[in-house]
Parts: sequence; C-alpha cells; structure tokens
Amino acid sequence: MNRLLVLTVAVAAGAFMLAMAGAETPAAPEGIVPITVPEDAELTKPLVLFPHSRHEAAELGCDACHHMWDQGMGDPVPCTASGCHDLGVAQTREEKKAPEYFRNAFHSSELMSCNGCHKARKELGETHGPTSCRDCHVEAQ
Ligand code: HEC
Ligand code: HEC
Ligand code: HEC
Repeated sequence: MNRLLVLTVAVAAGAFMLAMAGAETPAAPEGIVPITVPEDAELTKPLVLFPHSRHEAAELGCDACHHMWDQGMGDPVPCTASGCHDLGVAQTREEKKAPEYFRNAFHSSELMSCNGCHKARKELGETHGPTSCRDCHVEAQ
C-alpha cells in the first residue's frame, strides 16, 4: 500500500515538474531588438538592430543562437552577458581572435553567428539575412 502511494506521488511529482519546465519556456522579444554591446566597447559602425520575431518565424530553433541555453534553465541571456562574449576592446593579437571579443561572436564562420549563418544559407540557396556590412550596420535615416 505504502509503496503504491510512494509511486503515485513520484509520478505526480514528475508530471508536475514536466509541466513546470514547459511553463518556463520564456517569451522571446517581439519585433526588432538592438544588440547589447559590452560597456567599454567603442562603436565605429551603426549599432545593429536585430529582427528577433523574424528569426523566430524562420523556425531555426532557439538554440541555433542561444547555444548555451537549455529549456528549463531560465531565460536566455544576451550574447555579450558577463562571462560570454563580453570583451569590449581587443588589444593583443590573441584577443582580436578570441571568441570572447564581442565582434567575433557576430561575424565568425560558425553557424550560430549572424554572418556565419547568413553566408552558409546563402551558399546553399536558402532564405538568409544580409551578408554585407551596410545591410546589417544600417545607417540611421
Ligand atoms: C549579419 C550581420 C552583420 C554583418 C553582415 C556585418 N556585421 Fe559587423 N556586427 C554585427 C553585430 C550584430 C555586431 C555587434 C553589435 C554592434 O556592434 O552593432 C557587429 C559589430 C561590428 C564591429 C564592432 C563594433 C563597432 O561598431 O565598431 C565592427 C567594427 C563591425 N561589426 C564591422 C563590420 C564590417 C566591416 C562588416 C562587413 C565586412 C560587418 N561588420 C558585417 C553584425 C554584422
Ligand atoms: C537567430 C538568432 C536567434 C534565435 C533563433 C533566437 N534568438 Fe533570442 N535573441 C537573439 C539575440 C541576438 C538577442 C538579443 C541579445 C542582446 O540583447 O544583445 C536575443 C534575445 C532574447 C531574449 C532576451 C534576453 C535578454 O535578457 O535581453 C530572450 C528571452 C530570447 N532571445 C528568447 C528566445 C527564444 C525563446 C527563442 C526561440 C523561440 C529565441 N530567442 C530564438 C538571437 C536569437
Ligand atoms: C542560424 C541562422 C541565423 C542566425 C544565427 C542569424 N540569422 Fe539573421 N536571418 C536568418 C534567416 C533564415 C533570415 C531570413 C528570414 C526570412 O526571410 O524571413 C534572416 C534574416 C535576417 C535579416 C533580414 C530581415 C528582413 O527584414 O529582411 C536581418 C537584418 C538579420 N537576419 C540579422 C541578423 C543578425 C544581426 C544576427 C545575429 C545577431 C542574425 N541575423 C543571426 C538566419 C539567421
């Protein structure tokens, strides 16, 4: 009898936790969001505006970009969050190539970077975003 009760409680708890994990999937930002840059970064180009909804509609999967994020782990964080691509100024040759240098996170040839994905999809003849500097770094009108 007791064992059955324990089992029932365990199953109920499991179902509850699954439901909670589902409920934790955060709402993605609507529309266009400005990319967050490290505090000490000095921008030389117009700040990139990112059409988040457009990418959600393209059904790439959240982890195509939020590559360190797992469902149930809380909200995804911006690319330049502390401990991620948070180096605002690169001085040495090593720093200029490091993934921590924020600029590299968005231009590298990896599929999770903006330009990496756009270029790869363009080569495959698939729908893709801009691959030229000024189409991403759009001058204010
Ligand atoms: C697919 C979009 C995309 C393309 C194409 C792109 N960039 Fe970027 N770039 C970004 C994002 C996103 C950032 C980080 C946010 C920001 O600085 O606006 C960035 C940051 C930078 C930075 C560091 C910040 C600054 O303003 O100094 C430089 C420099 C830069 N890009 C130069 C270029 C150049 C040169 C090209 C063309 C060869 C280019 N980018 C093409 C998206 C892009
Ligand atoms: C094509 C890349 C890409 C995809 C796909 C994507 N995101 Fe994002 N997401 C971003 C970028 C870039 C930001 C802006 C980060 C910043 O502020 O610099 C962002 C921001 C967010 C934020 C706000 C984070 C904060 O603290 O400001 C949330 C929440 C989020 N995304 C959830 C999602 C969810 C949920 C999905 C899947 C349905 C998703 N994203 C799919 C790239 C993406
Ligand atoms: C994993 C692939 C992938 C990544 C990573 C990605 N994109 Fe895209 N992007 C796409 C696709 C696919 C489209 C075309 C969507 C469509 O046609 O509806 C697109 C379209 C765009 C557009 C054009 C939207 C329009 O109105 O025509 C912009 C601007 C853009 N992306 C910027 C970015 C920036 C900035 C980043 C990085 C923060 C980024 N993308 C990361 C796949 C990606």
